[in-house]
Amino acid sequence: MSTFQAPKGTYDLIPPRSAVFLAVRDAISAQARSAGYGYVETPGFEDVNLFARGVGESTDIVTKEMYTLTTKGGDQLALRPEGTASVLRAALQANLHKQGNLPVKLWYSGSYYRYERAQAGRYRHFSQVGAEAIGAEDPALDAELIILADQAYRSLGLRQYRILLNSLGDKECRPVYREALQTFLRGLDLDEETLRRAEINPLRVLDDKRPDVQKQLVDAPLLRDYLCDACKAYHEEVRALITAAGVVFEDDPKLVRGLDYYTRTTFEFVHDGLGAQSAVGGGGRYDGLSEMIGGPALPSVGWALGVDRTVLALEAEGVELDLPATTSVFAVAIGEEARRLLFGKVTELRRAGIATDFSFGGKGLKGSMKDANRSGARIALVAGERDLAEGVIQVKDMESGEQRPVAPDALLDAVRGILG
Ligand code: HAM
Repeated sequence: MSTFQAPKGTYDLIPPRSAVFLAVRDAISAQARSAGYGYVETPGFEDVNLFARGVGESTDIVTKEMYTLTTKGGDQLALRPEGTASVLRAALQANLHKQGNLPVKLWYSGSYYRYERAQAGRYRHFSQVGAEAIGAEDPALDAELIILADQAYRSLGLRQYRILLNSLGDKECRPVYREALQTFLRGLDLDEETLRRAEINPLRVLDDKRPDVQKQLVDAPLLRDYLCDACKAYHEEVRALITAAGVVFEDDPKLVRGLDYYTRTTFEFVHDGLGAQSAVGGGGRYDGLSEMIGGPALPSVGWALGVDRTVLALEAEGVELDLPATTSVFAVAIGEEARRLLFGKVTELRRAGIATDFSFGGKGLKGSMKDANRSGARIALVAGERDLAEGVIQVKDMESGEQRPVAPDALLDAVRGILG
């Protein structure tokens, strides 16, 4: 073991589990790609104020969890704690919204950083795949995103997840509700910090997990009862569209998200096999974010699905992904001359697009055949001195066990014949 370990709250992705992560990323992004979302990649760090303004000064993410740094040049940066603010920043900077084709639909995949209390399912470095639809106010867009996320989880074989749905209202109705909630909260028996939170961001108090607080919140006013007519109609349309698509969801009038930019539609995908860190993905509409970071009004909606927790959810449900073996052909050479010949054939097969591996390290036949087995390859190529003398390479179908000698020039065709 080395003197060094992965930092607290982080872990390494290593084979074979790492293949599951890749498959999860692929399955999620496949849904976005199939719906016209284009790939976007932004830097791993940004001006710290992008997140302070975008995600919200009073959120845990900004006050407690950001990895901030000052560069040698004096710039104040933060490792990105989430993707939405960055993606919107990038779209605005590239003037994508001015090209007359709103909404701009983008997907992304990458690492995010939050200095959280590390525990199972909650890491300081984690991965998300996200999708954002920028610049359109259309309930069908909210519905599209919820349906795509649902389809991503389904395509992976997940079943034990639930979709929680809420509306957080807009700048007309939310302030009225906020006041009503604040008045209610002021009358409760709460500790000082919670009371302070009630003044700055009362909706966050609804999310307090402590039983003694939850008990007092039973009669709290609900935003649902304060939605203005426009927000109510919008929400009803989103609900109707996803219902028509056969997507089952639960109305959760107390669903509040940990980021301040949300308006109207908000949702979370929770998995029942994950314990406390049950949210495998979440998102919603953020109609005011563009203006908050200095852009024009651009109503938008999106989600980010957590790759780490999705893998944990698959493990919790015992779902084994059907991952095809990455190696199709494994070449086993005994002796120097055979090594030279087969190494050349390996290159030839790879150039022909066939995934091929080689018995490196000069092992004997037994050890090399073990490697061939472990690789999951359909075909093993074997050549020793006797084969060379006869001018052949042995081609073994690892599925049927059949083996036959093939002339080196006919190898590619023989391999293709077996692989189909
Ligand atoms: P979020 O709910 O903060 O939303 O994160 C989305 C998902 O990322 C979570 O549901 C969870 O699966 C995963 N995640 C978050 N923090 C951690 C962690 N510390 N360890 C492991 N997984 C984690 C956002 O980030 C928004 N940007 C989503 C969005 C996109 N809203 C609109 N567009």
